[in-house]
Amino acid sequence: MANSAQDIGIVGVVGAGAMGRGIAQVGASGGMTVLLYDAAPGAAARARDAILAQLDQMVAKGRLEAGAAEEAKRRLSVVEELKALSPADLVVEAIVENLGVKQEVFRQLEGIVRPDCLLASNTSSLRIASIASACERRGRIGGLHFFNPVPLMRLVEVVRAPATSDATVAALVKVGERMGRTPVVVQDSPGFLVNLGGRAYTQEALRIVSEGVATPAQVDAIMREVWGFRMGPFELMDLTGIDVNFPVSQIVHEGYFYDRRLATVPLHQSLKESGQFGRKSGRGFFDYDSNGKAILPSADASSDAAPASRVCLAEEDEVLGELLRDCGFEASGFDDGDCPILGAPLGEDCATYAARLGLDHRRLFALDLTGKFDKRLTLMRAPGARQALLDAVVARFNQAGRPISVIFDSPGFVGQRIAAMVANLGCEMAQIRIAGPEDIDKAMTLGLNYPLGPLALADAMGVAAVHTIMQQLQAITGDDRYRPSLWLRRRALLGLSALAAD
Ligand code: NAI
Repeated sequence: MANSAQDIGIVGVVGAGAMGRGIAQVGASGGMTVLLYDAAPGAAARARDAILAQLDQMVAKGRLEAGAAEEAKRRLSVVEELKALSPADLVVEAIVENLGVKQEVFRQLEGIVRPDCLLASNTSSLRIASIASACERRGRIGGLHFFNPVPLMRLVEVVRAPATSDATVAALVKVGERMGRTPVVVQDSPGFLVNLGGRAYTQEALRIVSEGVATPAQVDAIMREVWGFRMGPFELMDLTGIDVNFPVSQIVHEGYFYDRRLATVPLHQSLKESGQFGRKSGRGFFDYDSNGKAILPSADASSDAAPASRVCLAEEDEVLGELLRDCGFEASGFDDGDCPILGAPLGEDCATYAARLGLDHRRLFALDLTGKFDKRLTLMRAPGARQALLDAVVARFNQAGRPISVIFDSPGFVGQRIAAMVANLGCEMAQIRIAGPEDIDKAMTLGLNYPLGPLALADAMGVAAVHTIMQQLQAITGDDRYRPSLWLRRRALLGLSALAAD
């Protein structure tokens, strides 16, 4: 019989590193008695000192009442042996990420704790089922996947393995809540929810840079300013560390049997191999000064050529026409054979767009009109574009005071391509039942600070538009990576929200 959450008074925490100490802190703050154990001599005591100091700091900052801090401190004790966890109602394991070592700890725990004690692992890359395979009673084993730093990150993924009982899942959800977290129940799958969902943003950005479309600084500026992400994908990878995000990418890619959607690029591995890990090593995608501040190249194009005035619209397009007139262009449907041609394709690159409409690709320039493009414009050119015309067009936008990034040819530019990939992977996670659609959005916004969950993002862009972008990407590149999720396709065909359940 599994414990019910109300009965969980004593929580054992095995491993007192970065994660274990955070889990112990939120457990004690949540009203549970915490027994903290670490195999390394002195590690658990050091962790306890750090937790006590952290609680004091919270009191000093007015974020915690002094009485509550004292109670939390009283509820926390260090134990010297694994055996001392025998009275626990729940044990959370947060030791080294090694399957054999974790299995051994679970096997030992099985001989120590009561039969109704729940066992949970905080693993981020192993399967709960693999850890539980070392045990006899598997119904009481699940995942409690916290995020770093635990006291600040509200999300906890409650991982349900095939053998995990409903009662265990329900009890882990309640314990997560008592620890002050927001639990989301997820399937026991590679990367669980957040570490899978997060692949699209960074890996599509890497692909775009690898294709020579744009620089990391340009991609970051577009994703921050036009799409509202708090950090650009490259800043983010530099912050988490390429030594961390490259292996996670590989684990998720392998775990999904080399699904092209999840493949990263050789550049990612090269940086990892060269020890260029990001902020922590002073150099990653960007260089860092001695204060750890990124030295960012400009993402803006500028030109002192004479500004273009007359331009021809590739197609009738009210939004584009208005934007161009606002910026001082004289825009019409008339092509005098010399002027720049401006268009706003969805999912197409300039080459495809020019070929489809029979346009002169040397004079064609495309603007991305998805996202908040009033903050920053993205201008895309075809191979063989006339530099003088490009300079004149850029000069006009400069004169109008509009920040603009000029990129090379790419189906879906930068922003619509990355945003569509994020939305499509969110749809796929809903399709393969990693979690329910609302929980997917909740987890992605809490776990990664995304401005919108991937499914709400699909709705904001228009489900049909996202589907079109994905279809174009797939057709133009011939790459299976871009196949639209069935979840997305069906909702686009039926005119439904991406959040609509099956
Ligand atoms: P860490 O290296 O900071 O701490 C691990 C601790 O476990 C060390 O104090 C070590 O002495 C202890 N330990 C190792 N083997 C042990 C054993 N057999 N018995 C008892 N204690 C043992 O590692 P961290 O970062 O706290 O990670 C712990 C777990 O949490 C890993 O499974 C990791 O994948 C997972 N995780 C880590 C996140 C992170 O951002 N660091 C985020 C989410 C999950």
